[in-house]
Amino acid sequence: MSAAGPPLTPEGWGSRYRAEDTPWDLGRPAPGLLSLLDEGVLAPCRVLVPGCGRGHDALLLADRGFDVVALDYAPEAIRLAEDLAATRGESRVRFLVQDFLCFEAAEPFDLLWEHTCFPALHSSLRQGYARAIARLVRPGGILAGVFFVGSSPGGPPFEATTEEIEALLSPAFEKLAWEPARVRGHTRREEWTYVGRRHSSARHSGGCAPRDRGP
Ligand SMILES: C[S@@+](CC[C@H](N)C(=O)[O-])C[C@H]1O[C@@H](n2cnc3c(N)ncnc32)[C@H](O)[C@@H]1O
Repeated sequence: MSAAGPPLTPEGWGSRYRAEDTPWDLGRPAPGLLSLLDEGVLAPCRVLVPGCGRGHDALLLADRGFDVVALDYAPEAIRLAEDLAATRGESRVRFLVQDFLCFEAAEPFDLLWEHTCFPALHSSLRQGYARAIARLVRPGGILAGVFFVGSSPGGPPFEATTEEIEALLSPAFEKLAWEPARVRGHTRREEWTYVGRRHSSARHSGGCAPRDRGP
């Protein structure tokens, strides 16, 4: 991600946003999200977008009629997302400065959309990620996302194998789709699309643990 290694703190990520050193930012919504929306896999509901960065996905979801809460623990990311929303005249998204792993919502969400939040987390935080998604998606709700698999030069810092990701998600979610992402007919082998339904009872729920706060 950079010669200095990946940023692992809100301050580290914030300095990347301040320096405009954000190669992960596509400047538009994730193609995988557009595909799931256009194919009708995701329908308007109450959605959480963790690690939202500049908010392209959150703004698209609001545009498509979703009730969106988007969070990022880097205040700079949220400031940029709010600026982008203001330039679009979009005031419906609730952007929050929050650590996803310790986020508690008054009510769990119908849908959680993941795009490059998981590979931004140190590998030691993966169980905390699993606990957070189980806590924040209601039973019967949906987890959807694009996960980066394998490793690629300049790619996300903490990629995992398809087996590792599936094993992490399976205690709380019934897999509905897990396949290489297809964008406009092209298969992207390093990006896999996951869609899963939250089991009514899940082993991986519970609150934020002290070990979820950092590597
Ligand atoms: C690689 S960027 C991706 C941003 C956005 N999803 C996108 O696709 O452009 C990862 C983002 O996750 C945020 N992040 C990392 N760990 C987080 C955590 N524990 N809670 C909330 N945000 C986190 C970072 O601040 C950063 O904005």
